[in-house]
Amino acid sequence: CGIVGYIGQREVAPLLLEGLQRLEYRGYDSAGIAIHSSGTGKNAGLKTAKTKGRVRDLEERVPARFAGTTGIAHTRWATHGAPNDVNAHPHLDRDEKVAVVHNGIIDNASELRAKLTADGVAFVSETDTEVLSHLIARAQAERLEAKVQEALRMVEGTYGIAVLHADFPDRIVVARNGSPVVLGIGEHEMFVASDVAALVSHTRQVVTLDDGEMATIKADDYRTYTTEGSRTSTSPETVEWAAESYDMGGHDTYMHKEIAEQADAVDRVLRGRIDERFATVHLGGLNLDAREARSMRRVKILGCGSAYHAGMIGAQMIEELARVPADAEPASEFRYRNAVVDPDTLYIAVSQSGETYDTLAAVQELKRKGARVLGVVNVVGSAIARETDGGVYVHAGPEVCVVSTKCFTNTAVAFALLALHLGRIRDLSVADGKRIIEGLRRLPEQIDEIMRAEDDIKKLAEDYARAKSMMFVGRVRGYPVAREASLKLKEVSYIHAEAYPASELKHGPLALIEPAVPTVAILPDDELLDKNRATLEEIKARSGKILAVAHQEQEKADHTILVPRNEVELDPVLMGIPLQLLAYHTALALGRDIDKPRNLAKSVTVE
Ligand code: G6P
Repeated sequence: CGIVGYIGQREVAPLLLEGLQRLEYRGYDSAGIAIHSSGTGKNAGLKTAKTKGRVRDLEERVPARFAGTTGIAHTRWATHGAPNDVNAHPHLDRDEKVAVVHNGIIDNASELRAKLTADGVAFVSETDTEVLSHLIARAQAERLEAKVQEALRMVEGTYGIAVLHADFPDRIVVARNGSPVVLGIGEHEMFVASDVAALVSHTRQVVTLDDGEMATIKADDYRTYTTEGSRTSTSPETVEWAAESYDMGGHDTYMHKEIAEQADAVDRVLRGRIDERFATVHLGGLNLDAREARSMRRVKILGCGSAYHAGMIGAQMIEELARVPADAEPASEFRYRNAVVDPDTLYIAVSQSGETYDTLAAVQELKRKGARVLGVVNVVGSAIARETDGGVYVHAGPEVCVVSTKCFTNTAVAFALLALHLGRIRDLSVADGKRIIEGLRRLPEQIDEIMRAEDDIKKLAEDYARAKSMMFVGRVRGYPVAREASLKLKEVSYIHAEAYPASELKHGPLALIEPAVPTVAILPDDELLDKNRATLEEIKARSGKILAVAHQEQEKADHTILVPRNEVELDPVLMGIPLQLLAYHTALALGRDIDKPRNLAKSVTVE
């Protein structure tokens, strides 16, 4: 979900709607806005508009009489209660004095709701957030800040909130616990948002709140303090991502833009990190000394969705190059299975946003049990980046499309750097270090080469878009690629797809193979090529159609997408890219909503 707020001199409604557009990738089943009206008489007080659907649906509902220079807005991804008009934020109290927008989940909402109902409060929506509006409206304290604190003391759960109060038109009060809140500092105007994406076109001076921190913003100043009321000292930082990097830059979708800019993104993750002389890399923020790197016995990588798949690639690279047993696991599974936390294991949390709740909760649990946790994260200063002991930033730049592409690729490259670093401290030879470095350097140019085949891939996609279901197979290095490609296709085209290790096909899924269920096979020219070719025979014998992704033309396949050769360890980085294009063009052929697939959100900040 996304929050945006503004207080200053300008008309607030258009500013908030623009901010919501920029946040829409975070949730898009309903949207709403509340402002302090500058009108008088019956036009005075708070004005709200909200609706199920997209920000453009909200735009139609915001009337011209929404004049005012202070307001808050929200775009929602439903957790409690169906996506409909009443469940959309902001939520008001009965007297319409208080308006609240909220990200996160109030765990004790049903108890609080029962208590308030017994006290005669009539609820309008099914949301947990509405509880907050009533609590703040009923608080005994005089100042708005104290009213919010009084309400928050009764609440258990996670929140990022912004609050307007009809009696306090000169301020917006915000609070953070587990769900991001950033202030944007302007000239005689202040912004607040759950994500810098909504701010950067106005200011690059930001203050990120910590958990347990609150802020009051007024047109000319802001102050931060804890939920207990003690002042905190914060000074603004400058965000490094420029506003342009959030624009579509001439592409029809963010997904296409983000696929197309991968050569540059990979260049960025490598920049300044390679040390030719010692055939190693410098990772400034890693915070893991050579002794620790040598003494660890295992590596465990945790993440969700595409981050988990990038972690699978990372685990293989670390095992191959640094010769430490390594594996990846979905963060959500890990945190619920009461895993043994081992002091000799290095834990690595992977996340584009740095906010995914399951991953964050896994990190917090690990820290509680004394583990060493590093982060491989894209968003600088995000919650996971801050909770971990150190790590590697992925530097993919802002990723807006809900489905991950460039960040996935960059994460895999960041893992190659980490694996090389660990390898060179342990027992990887100088020659092998050099070989990997040369391979890394070739990546950007080879990515461009793959992009030049886009028209051919588009034609294939138009053909494969008729499939009932698709099977993706690969062995070892090809397997995580198959997993990610299958996820990508499902997410964006809604075609059912499965991924299997090629060797597992004969143990069950072969039963599904028929002409309407084509297989995408990942076949790098590595030591497993012959085995993979045998798999193609198995599929052909069941009259299955095959699309191969390989370094050389595959006779048994109906079509082959050729990928340039690199070092075998880096094959997964390149082989995934044509399959991003395949998913993209399949979705395009089927007329899907590419940047905002149904039912999904970019950052899942709830359990
Ligand atoms: C959501 C998104 C996925 C993403 C996953 C992890 O499910 O829809 O595309 O891979 O979260 O997100 P993270 O920000 O932690 O990488």
